[in-house]
Amino acid sequence: MAMLEALQAAPVSSNARTDVSALSVSNQTGYRAFKAGGFEFRRDEYFARLSWPGGTHIMPIDVFLRAMMRDVAWGFFYGAVNFDSVFGTINHYGEVTMFAGRFNGAYVAASRNYEERFSSAALMGVFKEILSDWTNSGYDPFAAPMETGTPWGTKNGGNDDAITRQRVTAKRMVGLPGDTPVRTDETGFPVNRQFADVEQDQPLVECEPGFEHEVSGFNLFGYLSRSDVTWNPSVCSVVGESLFCPTSEEFILPVEHGNDRCEWFLQLSDEITWDVKDKETGKPRARVLMRAGDICCMPADIRHQGYSTKRSMLLVWENGASKIPQMIAEGTAPVVPVEF
Ligand SMILES: [Fe+2]
Repeated sequence: MAMLEALQAAPVSSNARTDVSALSVSNQTGYRAFKAGGFEFRRDEYFARLSWPGGTHIMPIDVFLRAMMRDVAWGFFYGAVNFDSVFGTINHYGEVTMFAGRFNGAYVAASRNYEERFSSAALMGVFKEILSDWTNSGYDPFAAPMETGTPWGTKNGGNDDAITRQRVTAKRMVGLPGDTPVRTDETGFPVNRQFADVEQDQPLVECEPGFEHEVSGFNLFGYLSRSDVTWNPSVCSVVGESLFCPTSEEFILPVEHGNDRCEWFLQLSDEITWDVKDKETGKPRARVLMRAGDICCMPADIRHQGYSTKRSMLLVWENGASKIPQMIAEGTAPVVPVEF
């Protein structure tokens, strides 16, 4: 789920849009409006208000900001990030499509869907500006609702410390020399209130002299118990294209993720309920209850959104190979991991 930096470095075609800009500040609300291609973004006390040639859309501002936080932090992610049933982005790894109604069966049937393709760098720039301007002091769109303030009201300061957290992207594995470090109280990662019972000891690794940089281990449960954000799968180990992206989850996955490849979920603790829908139309396909120890694979032709009341631990296992979306689109790779 979390992207390797290399996947983001694809070349940009000459016709990808780069026309993004900040518009004026509203005298009524204090919030700035923004423009990206034909899309315009405005917020008021309760809502994000979007418009594009031929359509408009309204989203509750908390839903919009939580989704925008993930789209920014994940670098547009794999496949489609549906902020809701209408608006979202599709990652082409170097370029990104912003759409309205593209994955909504009713919009498509009525030919009311609309999309534009941008350079990823240009769209990311304005998305970061929107997130910064529209996030008020005391509100953290990365946090669980019970661990932050509220996003409502007119413009009131900002919270750039919360929305510019660096996402973990281990090059080999958490804890190896020169790689992303394990989390501790001292480095600003206290144990979360809902993981107070998680053991915090670390494995003792005794390796042959000369292999200190190659052999390592860390307490993954302890590491996840100290995550300060929710629904933020981060690369914690890499073997070739195999990426382990564990994360801690509370409340709702703020986006409906439309997969462009198969994606394995290993429920490490507690439970998550998943709504699984058709990727293209949004029609319901399944509801999956995963309890600790359960493993499932989300197919490549679905979108999914999860619900977790008690903060839980989830290991997301990705094949990061950049050729997979094209192979699935061409039909040379299956949309499921195994066929019986
Ligand atoms: Fe997914």
